[in-house]
Amino acid sequence: MIGEYNENAVLEITGVGVATSTGLRRGVVVNIEATLRSIAQAVEAAELMSGREVRDAWVGVSGANIEGINSRGVVAVTGKGREIGQEDVDRVIEAARAVVIPMDREVLHVIPQTFIVDDQKGIRDPRDMIGVRLEAEVHIISGAVTTAQNLIKCVNRAGFRANGLILHSLAAARAVLSNDEKELGCLLVDLGGGTTDALVYSEGAPYFTSVVPVGGMQVTNDISIMLNVPMDAAERIKRESGCCDASIVEPDETVIVPGLGGRAPQEVPRTRIAAIMQPRMEEIYSLVLDRIETMGYRRLIKGGVVLTGGGALMQGACDLASRVFEVPARVGNPITLGGLVEEYRSPLYATAVGLVMLGADRLPQERRDGAKAVKAEERAGTSAFRKMVDWFKREWT
Ligand SMILES: Nc1ncnc2c1ncn2[C@@H]1O[C@H](COP(=O)(O)OP(=O)(O)O)[C@@H](O)[C@H]1O
Ligand SMILES: [Mg+2]
Repeated sequence: MIGEYNENAVLEITGVGVATSTGLRRGVVVNIEATLRSIAQAVEAAELMSGREVRDAWVGVSGANIEGINSRGVVAVTGKGREIGQEDVDRVIEAARAVVIPMDREVLHVIPQTFIVDDQKGIRDPRDMIGVRLEAEVHIISGAVTTAQNLIKCVNRAGFRANGLILHSLAAARAVLSNDEKELGCLLVDLGGGTTDALVYSEGAPYFTSVVPVGGMQVTNDISIMLNVPMDAAERIKRESGCCDASIVEPDETVIVPGLGGRAPQEVPRTRIAAIMQPRMEEIYSLVLDRIETMGYRRLIKGGVVLTGGGALMQGACDLASRVFEVPARVGNPITLGGLVEEYRSPLYATAVGLVMLGADRLPQERRDGAKAVKAEERAGTSAFRKMVDWFKREWT
């Protein structure tokens, strides 16, 4: 997905490219060649749509090796007059980050949750406050070094520079969660192909990250085995006629399923398809809930569950989620950005939209305003002659 700031300094999605991915399994690269081909193909399509050339990218990462932990750090305030400055904040986050992370793991994100100045708790931004002791609570997300390196290698070999790796669910959260949800506390469940990524927000910051190595692919696989049809037919049945909540399927609805090996197509009740899908989706949700309960964070998700990823398009996904998690559930569509055509305003694109938004957040202000100036100039019609005049003025006046 390609984003740019328009002349009004508003972020716009201008290019989208999609390619089948065969080189990843459960979020981890298993075939470099196949993965880099998929990347190159998708980027090419996005470039064609936007008329821009891609040189670097923010890369999404997932996989069962992802782990989130909460940590804290303390430092003495050293600034003049005990006034807390950016250096103190950097230092305390560094201290909180200094927990023992094994050599084979790489820190992907360190996100401050809250600060404590002397005995004053619950401070969002401690800068300019006066204090002696500064404490930070942070959420640290790490992943296997080799997984990260393989992904970056694929991006590089496809011809692009990776600006950095961003956890899928963190990107999706940027694109779909409202500030109210993050404050009140909610659970984001990103239902992908090979993984299901969960992220719990509370008081505006992430508190729990987990990746379950089961996803939509397993649902398709179940249908393929139980109905004895090839994977591509099973995938189509799932998307077009599937439902993961048997209680909302009309009992007399049927679906035509292709016969295998020259046999005649058969008519299958939709309730039977739902009966195959529901247990698997229940399993996925329960795995997520178990992990949240083990950490004692169930009370944090009163703001509800938000579903994204392709699996969120599944009929019944919300009904089943609200029953398993016992809180309201909704589908998270990426929030409206300029240029994002209706077709892409779907939970399928939440992660990619979020990557663009987070990448844009990290651009220095000059570059955002720079886009404004450049665009204005383009509109004013910068001819070769104008450029020459400008050069002349710069050099000779
Ligand atoms: N309409 C749909 N109904 C049910 N599942 C869908 C639908 N569209 C896509 N999916 C499923 O979503 C999954 C892919 O989701 P996506 O978010 O693109 O995955 P990933 O983040 O792993 O790349 C696949 O398992 C696919 O079968
Ligand atoms: Mg996804």
